[in-house]
Amino acid sequence: MRLEGKVAIITGASSGIGRATAFRFAEEGAKLVLTDIKIDQGQQLQQTLTNDGYDALFVKADVTNETEIQQVVNKTISQFGRIDILFNNAGIGNEEKRLVDMKSEEWDKVINVNLKSIFLGMKYVIPEMMKQTGGSIINTSSLLGIKGKKYVAPYNASKAGVLTLTKNAALEYGEQNIRVNAIAPGVIDTPIIDEWRKHPEKWNIISRANALRRLGTPIEVANVVVFLASKESSFITGTTIMVDGGGLTF
Ligand SMILES: NC(=O)c1ccc[n+]([C@@H]2O[C@H](COP(=O)([O-])OP(=O)(O)OC[C@H]3O[C@@H](n4cnc5c(N)ncnc54)[C@H](O)[C@@H]3O)[C@@H](O)[C@H]2O)c1
Repeated sequence: MRLEGKVAIITGASSGIGRATAFRFAEEGAKLVLTDIKIDQGQQLQQTLTNDGYDALFVKADVTNETEIQQVVNKTISQFGRIDILFNNAGIGNEEKRLVDMKSEEWDKVINVNLKSIFLGMKYVIPEMMKQTGGSIINTSSLLGIKGKKYVAPYNASKAGVLTLTKNAALEYGEQNIRVNAIAPGVIDTPIIDEWRKHPEKWNIISRANALRRLGTPIEVANVVVFLASKESSFITGTTIMVDGGGLTF
């Protein structure tokens, strides 16, 4: 098992990519702290994992709330004694509209959930990793952190911010053997893209806008997260792995 004895925190664990990663981390031997604002789904996930014999704890936390993030870290330490892996994954899209029509409240919300959350997660987890022999942090960006797209100004900007914040943290904590990487998924089959499914013409283009001409699955992303969390990626830090079926080349 590639993550045997490791302790991992996953944000946005109740759905999609976070949920799939919870299963993959568990299969690889990690003990899990799952966080999300969706309490029912999170508790059900914890139940399913514990029924299967895995160590999992769900802690409700809004990733924009500094106190709640601190509590997640404290509960992880009191339950499992250490933190080896942080998957900073929670995120939201924005209602599509032109930049000039975007309310500043909408801007703030997306920037806070997608970018400030990454800062807060690292701010409270890194000191714990520094007490040990290191750790691995994986931050979720997006193909849209690299490529522009109309009508998603705050999403574009937040996900681009994740990429340089990742490089910053990798540089600041590399000497402590804390590796920090980002993943940039393309279009993945999760509830976050449900709004696009409602428009068949648009959906037909978006759902095949890559070299492989299909959607990605959450497990295909989770497998890359496992790789970045494990020692197989021990000389990889400060970088971004595209998980986009060739979406950037398209
Ligand atoms: N699905 C895609 O096509 C795609 C593409 C690129 C990047 N991403 C990114 O992947 C990540 C996971 O998204 P997903 O596709 O699994 O979508 P999802 O909607 O299935 O999962 C996102 C999870 O984040 C949680 N969340 C939202 N706001 C939160 C908050 N304030 N505090 C705590 N949790 C919160 C949601 O409750 C949900 O469980 C996001 O950062 C998203 O931007 C997704």
